[in-house]
Parts: sequence; C-alpha cells; structure tokens
Amino acid sequence: MRSRGVEIEVLDDAEAAARRVAELLAEAARAAQEIALSGGSTPARAYELAAELEPEWSDAGVWWADERCVPPEDERSNFGLAKRTLLDKLERQPGRVHRIRGEEEPAEGAADYDRELRGMTLDLVLLGLGPDGHVASLFPDAPGLDETERLVIPAQPKLEPYVERVTLTPPALRSARRIVFLVTGAAKAEAVERVLAGPPVSAAPGSMIRSDSGETLAVLDQDAASRLRD
Ligand code: 6PG
Repeated sequence: MRSRGVEIEVLDDAEAAARRVAELLAEAARAAQEIALSGGSTPARAYELAAELEPEWSDAGVWWADERCVPPEDERSNFGLAKRTLLDKLERQPGRVHRIRGEEEPAEGAADYDRELRGMTLDLVLLGLGPDGHVASLFPDAPGLDETERLVIPAQPKLEPYVERVTLTPPALRSARRIVFLVTGAAKAEAVERVLAGPPVSAAPGSMIRSDSGETLAVLDQDAASRLRD
C-alpha cells in the first residue's frame, strides 16, 4: 500500500511489526549504517529482536531522534530504553554511540547534539507516533516545526512524561536516507490516518515528515492501519 509519499506495510499484529522493524535494524547494523532510534514503549520489542537477529553492531553508529531531559539511568530515558533492550544484549557494541545528553540543560544538550550531528547523513531513522500525531519530540503546533536551520532543538512535551525534551528538527529528520515509522495498536489508528493519509499540517507533526530524497516506510499492525483504505 502507498499513501502520500509513504510505503505502508501492514503486519498481522504488534509482534510481527516489531519483527519486521528488527530485521530492518539488523540489516542496517550489518551494513555499517548510521541508525537513529526513538523512545516510547513501542520500539522495545523491535530492539530486543534486533539484538537477537544481529548481536554484532561494531560497524554501526547509533543516534537518537529525541531524548527526555533526564539522566541516562532514569527509567524515562530513551537512551536507557535502548540500553536495556538492545545495547546490553549485544555481543559487540556499536562502534559509535551518539547519546543525547539528557542530564544537561536542554538548550545546551541540543546545541551539543546539533554539533555532533552536523555533516552526518543518517541512513535510517526509526520513529514512533503519538496518539496526537507527534513524532520524536515534535508536538502538535510546536514552534520547532518551522525550524529551517537547526538540526536539534529543545522542546516542551504535550504528553507524558512531562519532562523537557531535546529533539531532531523536521529538516534533520527529512534528510535521512530512510525514515521508518513503527506504529501499533487501535489507539493510534486515527493518528495514523492523519499522518500517513492526510495533508501535511502542523497539528499532526508526523504528516510533515517524509524523507526528502530517500524512502519513507510505515510498518503498522492491523489495528493501527484500521482507518486506512486500500
Ligand atoms: C518519546 C518518543 C516519542 C514516541 C511516541 C510514541 O521520547 O516519547 O521518541 O516520539 O515515539 O510518543 O510512543 P509510544 O511508543 O510509547 O506510544
């Protein structure tokens, strides 16, 4: 299925969707790619399966699409999620781990990560989707959605957890060679419809995110895809 610049794959259930994304992550790791991960609850299973499929990530580089401004050991940390479910299960760690320093003051953490990311092309960016249509920490109608220069900015959350964020901007996300949305569950069906099938609007930030010159793929389960037409 294809919808407004996105190739859509609908899998039977959340486990199958996680497995599909795990295969993409494992392939990217094997190909020594630069991979940006997301937080939230959805990708955890994909990370676990990716570590099983490919336990050697020494040639890969790992980045993050966003971070909550908490220390890395805090249970809300996006780095912490990836550490528990992916990094700690690998036999060989990625050669390059570019963590967003959530323990820093947000403007400083964003400026540091902007410098780290500048000049780099991300090969694969994995994004979740909030029920309000947010991706990374780009929330509906946030000022950062108009950003044209900066690659990384501080941001305010509009959903839990209510901690400040640091997030890649739309131009940083759009410059990725491949963007992969992983979305499961009926609670996301309306957001999926707005983001994948609707026009690009700041009220549903995911609708504004497509790879500029590469590929955009959405991996969904049947529940999340239930409002899309064939
Ligand atoms: C974050 C994320 C965020 C997430 C969505 C979906 O830091 O919260 O990167 O963009 O992907 O909120 O989260 P769930 O998978 O928990 O629904």
